[in-house]
Parts: sequence; structure tokens; C-alpha cells
Amino acid sequence: MPAETVGAAIVRCARELQRARVFFGHGTDNARDEAAELVFFAARIDHAEGANAYGKPLTRRRSERIEALLRRRIDERIPLAYLTHRAFFAGLELYVDERVLVPRSPIAELIVQRFAPWAPDRAIRRILDIGTGSGAIALASAKAFPKARVDAVDISVAALQVCRRNARRLGLEKRVRALRSDHFGAVERRRYDIIVSNPPYVGRSEMRRLPREYGHEPKLGLASGADGLDSVRAIFSSARQHLEDDGILVVEVGNTERALMRAFPRLPFIWPDIEMGGGGVFVLRAADLDDAEWEKQARGG
Ligand SMILES: C[S@@+](CC[C@H](N)C(=O)[O-])C[C@H]1O[C@@H](n2cnc3c(N)ncnc32)[C@H](O)[C@@H]1O
Repeated sequence: MPAETVGAAIVRCARELQRARVFFGHGTDNARDEAAELVFFAARIDHAEGANAYGKPLTRRRSERIEALLRRRIDERIPLAYLTHRAFFAGLELYVDERVLVPRSPIAELIVQRFAPWAPDRAIRRILDIGTGSGAIALASAKAFPKARVDAVDISVAALQVCRRNARRLGLEKRVRALRSDHFGAVERRRYDIIVSNPPYVGRSEMRRLPREYGHEPKLGLASGADGLDSVRAIFSSARQHLEDDGILVVEVGNTERALMRAFPRLPFIWPDIEMGGGGVFVLRAADLDDAEWEKQARGG
């Protein structure tokens, strides 16, 4: 039998992933893209080769590696990024393992656009990423704003180890500081031009219904109280005092968007259109957080 080609292996793996009804959403959102990443990784082909690689025959060793990865992905429902130890975010390749959430935030698109048109129209000097995990948002922001210093905070010491590793790999360790902090707890009186966060935002009942793949991710990265808003509330309670007067707050809340609008009906959230899909990311200007009325109302005052 002639050796299977890269293209044929991708088609076959995509079919098997679909038949096994694995959940997509940890870096890819469809069987074909996930199969391509699996085959390219196992066959040690650079994605830059793209479709040119499809006609190449696979050696037996490479076919065996593909098979082994596919079996673990299907049988153990492990997100592919934890098997390959790599994830792609805003054009960066990051190291990942089960200490951190697989980076996939739609905030990537806003970072690449330098948070235009909402970010202050001047040099951005200080950025804070709350709940940095692998460092994805902090590191991509440091790339997008070459003059900025970025504080990457997380409550998880294990996550910060991964963040530091990524900062070193990307040569950004001088501008990105990984800091253990419970939300704003350790940033003292510092003020930022941009505060950005993809905090945990899954409510209690939704946690119980998540596909098996999520069980491999740190619970700290997902669960956030009964309605999923505990972390966002903590961010609201101190964001204003850590923002410059023309600064912005950018937060992902995913499908907790509706619960958030119910809880904070007076806040003038901006919900940017995100072309790559996803959504559930809001922008607020510092001035929007000045008015104490929204806070009183949120507390039922
Ligand atoms: C949804 S994950 C996001 C990770 C990363 N920013 C990304 O987008 O891939 C949320 C992160 O928030 C961290 N976290 C949870 N509670 C926190 C807290 N009280 N203070 C700071 N970080 C927290 C978790 O450890 C986790 O790394």
C-alpha cells in the first residue's frame, strides 16, 4: 500500500474527530483545522508550508505519531493544545500545558488592532492583564505596544510559571512582569492606560454541563461563583482607581454577557464586533466608571 499523504491524513483525522463528536473550541472551532494542526505537529511540518505540504507522503513513524495523538485526543478528550504543548494567539506561538487555560480569547483581534478606536490616541505606557494564565493577552499586548510595560497578574503560581516561560521564549521578559495577585491585590497604587482581562466567568450550573475537554483545564480559569460574575465584580470594584483618566477597561465575559447587563444596567458597555467569531467582550472608558450611580444600582441601592 502506498504511504498516506499529509492531505489524506488530514481528511481522515477530521472525519474521525467528527465521528467521535469531540468538542472543538480550544484553539480551533472545526474538525478540519484541528486535524490539520494535529497532522502538521505530528509530522513536524511548519504551518508556513501550508497546502504545499499536502501531497507529501508520510513515513511510518510519522503516521504512528499521528495515530497516537488522535487516539488520546478522542479517548481522553484532551484538548489538542495540551498534547502538542503549543497554542497560537495573535500571531504568537505559546507553550501551554494543563496549568493554564488554552488561549483562545477573541480579545486577540482587538489587541492586533491596538484596541482602536477606544484606546487613548497617544503612546501607551502601562498595561495590566488580570488573570494572565499562559500570558497570551499580556505578551500579545506587549508586541502590539512596543513602548508599553505590561503587568501580567494571576492568582495561580503554576500559571505564572508558564507565563514567565512564554515571556522568555518571546524575548519579552524585560517588559512583561508576571506577578502573583488576587485581581488588583498586588498592583498597589499603579495606574494603567489599558486594563484587559479574560477572567473566569462560568456560572455554577454551566460548570456542570461543560464538555469533557474543559475538565482538563484549571478550574480556577473557568469557575466564578454562582452566576459567573464574581471575578468581573471584583474587577469593577477597583478598576477606576487603577485607570488613567483616558484609560480603558476591556473584559471578556463570553455568554455571561446577558447576566452582566442585567446586573449592571447603567453601565454603557461597548460590545465590539469581532470578525474571527466569539464575541462577549466589552470595552468601558474610565469616565464610564466615574459615576457612582451604576454601582449603587448594581447593589440594589
Ligand atoms: C479564563 S483564564 C484566562 C487565561 C488567559 N488570560 C487567556 O486568555 O488565555 C482566567 C485566569 O484567571 C486566573 N484567576 C482566577 N481567579 C483570579 C483572581 N482572583 N485573581 C487573579 N487571577 C485569577 C486564573 O488562574 C486563570 O489563569
